[in-house]
Amino acid sequence: MSINELSARFLPNPALQRLKPYGAEERAILSMAGGVKALAAISQWEGYRPTPLLSLPTIASACGVASVHYKDEGCRFGLKSFKALGGGYAVQRLVERHGTAGMTVTCATDGNHGRAVAWGARRAGIRAVIYVHEGVSEGRAAAIAGFGADVRREGRTYDDSVRASADAASDHGWHIVSDTSWPGYEDTPKAVMQGYAVLAMEIEAEGVRPSHVFVQGGVGGLAASVLSYRWEKFGADRPVMTVVEPDKAACLFASARAKALTAVGGDLDTVMAGLACGEPSLLAWHILSPGADAFMSIPDAAAVATMRDLAELGIVAGESGVAGLAGFRLAAQDAAMRAALSLDATSRIVVYGTEGATDPDVYRALVGRSPKDIAS
Ligand SMILES: Cc1ncc(COP(=O)(O)O)c(C=O)c1O
Repeated sequence: MSINELSARFLPNPALQRLKPYGAEERAILSMAGGVKALAAISQWEGYRPTPLLSLPTIASACGVASVHYKDEGCRFGLKSFKALGGGYAVQRLVERHGTAGMTVTCATDGNHGRAVAWGARRAGIRAVIYVHEGVSEGRAAAIAGFGADVRREGRTYDDSVRASADAASDHGWHIVSDTSWPGYEDTPKAVMQGYAVLAMEIEAEGVRPSHVFVQGGVGGLAASVLSYRWEKFGADRPVMTVVEPDKAACLFASARAKALTAVGGDLDTVMAGLACGEPSLLAWHILSPGADAFMSIPDAAAVATMRDLAELGIVAGESGVAGLAGFRLAAQDAAMRAALSLDATSRIVVYGTEGATDPDVYRALVGRSPKDIAS
């Protein structure tokens, strides 16, 4: 199916306070100062280099905007996703505070976060126990185990495995490195989100100043980080920010509609595996609720069509990594959404290509070609 046969659900944020200054309450969650500290630490890691910011002129002209830039995280530290910035940084912060002796870290994952935590644990020389749910592909579980982690399968959904990891941590005295937060558990998820600030900072260092950002949401940590950096820096002049989720796991969309943190049920069975989350992160929601301009939910077919179209341009992009770009393309072809977001021929779009082919078999099944084939 091609992108122009598809459509999305769209919701202007009913709780938006666009003129609200980025205040102390928000800064206690995420701050530019914290972002500078994260970049200073992460840029010391072996293999650090800013990921490419690719210009997509053919997509920009097909969508009637001035430019589209795609931040390609497929080569971040060899992990194929942006997640090293969060999970890896949070592990480092824990080790700084508690040392390595007898230290075990644990988390739940749809794939990418667990890979990042396992990688961070191996870098730090500590043990990692990573919980995956039954929907996580064998390829993704094997990649986590490849970093020396003990991988355990528990529960039907991401949210089930979050609980399994939390229970194990409390039974054994392990440290949870979760990318989602809940009442009473905030420090480490803050470090995870703070590490993601590197993305916005690298884009800024290239001199690209977007008018619109479309970013995908799982629990909302990435979107909150992307928003917070520009909100603190530019206030009401920040870009128009749209959060894009799979229609089968749209907990941020549901929360926006209810004007309160809301979980969605069901089996969350979407090809966008990294976004298959039914419960928003509490901390992320504190930032997104007053600050995000709009929410969208998109069908799986829009992500697959966008993966294929990027493959034609020689870009290997994973299912969850293309959701923001797919959301933008759907918004651009819909007159009402264009008007609501003030998208026009002068708009400069930034999207976050948050993963490459994190499971090459899944990639090949969806795109019809292997990632190696496309990259060459
Ligand atoms: C590739 C990819 N993109 C985006 C996200 C969304 O991040 P968050 O859960 O912080 O919203 C994830 C989450 O795992 C992911 O794996």
